[in-house]
Amino acid sequence: MSDMPPPGTVLGRLDALGDPGAFPSDYEPLPVLLVRKGDEAFAYVNVCPHQGRPLCLPSGRTLVSEGQFIVCPFHGASFAIESGACTGGPAGKAGLKPVPVEVKDGEIVAA
Ligand code: FES
Repeated sequence: MSDMPPPGTVLGRLDALGDPGAFPSDYEPLPVLLVRKGDEAFAYVNVCPHQGRPLCLPSGRTLVSEGQFIVCPFHGASFAIESGACTGGPAGKAGLKPVPVEVKDGEIVAA
């Protein structure tokens, strides 16, 4: 797995995401899933800890349940938006790997 994006790297725009919503970044050295909840952004390595598949469909569509959980489309593991902690499904206690980000002028930027 590649290193984290260098601080200052623009990974996407907050207003391109649903609220709450999630979509993969175009950043290529590392698969990154961007997640929005209100004016806050979160990001995770876009790999489900269950079987290593992406957390989104090939179209980029990502399931967000009850405004709180990212749901892996393959076997339904769920993860808290704000922490990436596993909240149910077959991933056991394994959570998502966070990518530190901040929002600056509407852009989601690696921190
Ligand atoms: S690969 Fe995500 S739940 Fe199985």
